[in-house]
Amino acid sequence: MISTLTKPEIQEFIKDHLYDDPASLMLKANQYPDWPMRLIVEQIQSRRKAKIKLPSWFKREEIIYPPMLSMEQCSSELTALFKANLIPDGESMVDLTGGFGVDFAFLSSRFLTNHYVERQEVLVSKAQHNFGRLGLSGVQIHHMDSEHFLAEEIRCDLIYLDPARRGDHNEKVVRLEDCEPNVIDLLPKLLSKSKRVMLKTSPLLDIKGAVRQLQSVESVHIVAVSNEVKELIFLLSENADIRPKIYCVNIKDKDTESFEFTFEQEETNTVNFSQVQDFLYEPNASILKAGAFKTIGNSFGLSKLEVNSHLYTSLELIEGFPGRAFRVIDKISLNKKVLKRYFPEMKANITTRNFQMTVAQIRQKSGLKEGGNQYLFGTTDQAGRQLILCEKIDR
Ligand SMILES: C[S@@+](CC[C@H](N)C(=O)[O-])C[C@H]1O[C@@H](n2cnc3c(N)ncnc32)[C@H](O)[C@@H]1O
Repeated sequence: MISTLTKPEIQEFIKDHLYDDPASLMLKANQYPDWPMRLIVEQIQSRRKAKIKLPSWFKREEIIYPPMLSMEQCSSELTALFKANLIPDGESMVDLTGGFGVDFAFLSSRFLTNHYVERQEVLVSKAQHNFGRLGLSGVQIHHMDSEHFLAEEIRCDLIYLDPARRGDHNEKVVRLEDCEPNVIDLLPKLLSKSKRVMLKTSPLLDIKGAVRQLQSVESVHIVAVSNEVKELIFLLSENADIRPKIYCVNIKDKDTESFEFTFEQEETNTVNFSQVQDFLYEPNASILKAGAFKTIGNSFGLSKLEVNSHLYTSLELIEGFPGRAFRVIDKISLNKKVLKRYFPEMKANITTRNFQMTVAQIRQKSGLKEGGNQYLFGTTDQAGRQLILCEKIDR
């Protein structure tokens, strides 16, 4: 199959038709009776996805892509690189859930010997081909179940797992014990064979619950890209402290926002509350996911609007806040005169946090369309429910 897909005339066809409609391409199948058109169209669809998700792979010739489901499940280049930078260099690494091999390829740059383990043959052969094209070194491929691989005599510096998050009926699952392989069952063996274990999970997983379940957690990394949480990474080792460090990261186009804390800090911290003042702050998605609600306010000397609002305020502008910062213009109502005065174009970016109306309800009641330079927060502060009109501070 790979030898067919890498034929120059097929690679040329894929390049020439990269942005064509898949259904129309399938209609061309009878013009090329000897070609596996369904697989070629699959390559076209997956390669298109790679343009954004894996830009450096996309630029290379002859990378063979997996079906869309595996393209959706694989890590992005950005998050794979982030994980590779979390660990020190070492002798050997095992990726027990190799898949399309994106995480493996980036992690392998830190080790001399790299074991790729995967049970689906179709992924194994594509990964093997691609690793050659990418010039990876020290690669050993194992087409087998991770449980069988772990039965072998092996000691390594890192075991990496990104368990499959699909149930028996292809439904999405989140809990660790529902993913495959079941990392909870494997844990004692993993920790006895490797200095460190790195586990990637669904962004929807309850972090505190997972720390309790996994026990040996050194640190948790909540990784957002452009303010959307993409992955939770748990780093485990046999001698981990019982108080893991929690690192919140938001990778943006130009820079990366980082914030670290511990759950103990969050429990013991107190936070000041205040009505909205001159500046308003919204933490990025990784901090909200981590639940650093008191610590973030405290660390930046900000007051919180209300216990469940997760918005913060100050009289002076505080630089370096990991999230969005706004200058408060006014507290407003949805009265027609007010709307006309403040929104001549009848456009606003609306967010609600701890408010009785949804964004859609506010839009319906006010007639405000999406867009423009004005920001409207529906929330609750110490004086009660508020619609706070703001202007974003670009940094
Ligand atoms: C989410 S994907 C991994 C994606 C990979 N990290 C990447 O960047 O391309 C999970 C993979 O684990 C494999 N898998 C699940 N259970 C396994 C097991 N018990 N043994 C070996 N592989 C397994 C699945 O076939 C799937 O390819």
